[in-house]
Amino acid sequence: MSLSETARTINATAYSYISSWALLTAAELRLFDRLPARSDDLVDAFPDADLVDTLMLTLADAGLVVDNDGVWTQTDEMTTLLTGDDSYADYLGGQIMQQMTPRMTLGLTGENVLSSVLTDPTSRRGYEGWFTDADEANAYQSSQYAGSLGPASALSKQIPTPTGRVLDLGGGWGAIAQAVAKRHDVDVDVVDFGTVVSSAPAGSDRVSFREGNALDETTWPDEAYDGVVLSYLFSSIPGSEQEPLLAALAERGVRWIAVHDFMAGTGRWASAWSLQHAVFVPEHRSRSEDDVSSMLQSAGFGTISASPLIDEMTTLVVGTRH
Ligand SMILES: C[S@@+](CC[C@H](N)C(=O)[O-])C[C@H]1O[C@@H](n2cnc3c(N)ncnc32)[C@H](O)[C@@H]1O
Repeated sequence: MSLSETARTINATAYSYISSWALLTAAELRLFDRLPARSDDLVDAFPDADLVDTLMLTLADAGLVVDNDGVWTQTDEMTTLLTGDDSYADYLGGQIMQQMTPRMTLGLTGENVLSSVLTDPTSRRGYEGWFTDADEANAYQSSQYAGSLGPASALSKQIPTPTGRVLDLGGGWGAIAQAVAKRHDVDVDVVDFGTVVSSAPAGSDRVSFREGNALDETTWPDEAYDGVVLSYLFSSIPGSEQEPLLAALAERGVRWIAVHDFMAGTGRWASAWSLQHAVFVPEHRSRSEDDVSSMLQSAGFGTISASPLIDEMTTLVVGTRH
């Protein structure tokens, strides 16, 4: 690679925060809801039209908006994803901008969080510490719910057809549980922290929310389960807890376990998202698809299937008993 190509490679990552922040900010401000528009049309909310043009040019270079003779527009597909309530823009302007980026970058104190965690890994408090604050749990889960609706639909089609009750450990506000219950006409129990389940939207009466801890099986519902969904739970708990968790589920006699998560080596954003979790989850461990498959096999789930779920980001590995 030449020096200029090398510099281009460095810059592609070094400066990507600018377009990223422009997108997250536009999402937070619900700017896409106002397109198509000229920057002059937006002066009621954004008085400097030239500044808006500069932002829009940045978004245009990133392929997010189109300059139509001075009128900023979007493709139909971009409009579908980035406008309206519970849209992808809500997730980007909500959980990603307000909660995830500060946990990785300059935090609330202006201190580089990633740098601090690298030198002092014991400073991480995890989801449990984070969600002792009910307002934080609420803000996080409303965005997570919106962000998980698409993956939930895909996941519900790729799990084994349930023959009985399903457990969703770390299920948040139940986007996945609702999709599984609806598609397969089964009961699904969601277990998550008290601040999470107490504010979950009701949804289907086939989905029950129970306060509990995925790492303490005495807090799980006293039910027999056909299968279990662990969506982003491996990224959310210490690595050393993953095998004991699978063993406890095997001991309970579940027939299948579906692990949906960021898995190293499976796409452009998989390890990046592991890192985003590693900065606040104590003893976080990156896992590859092979690692997760081996863990499931060791726990007695001999038939393994694996497939990408969110493009370049997440993988679904399902282990089923022979
Ligand atoms: C990234 S969110 C995923 C939520 C949901 N599974 C989904 O896919 O939309 C991670 C979830 O794991 C939950 N969680 C983390 N550690 C947990 C634990 N020890 N016990 C129960 N839930 C836990 C968090 O509260 C949060 O709701």
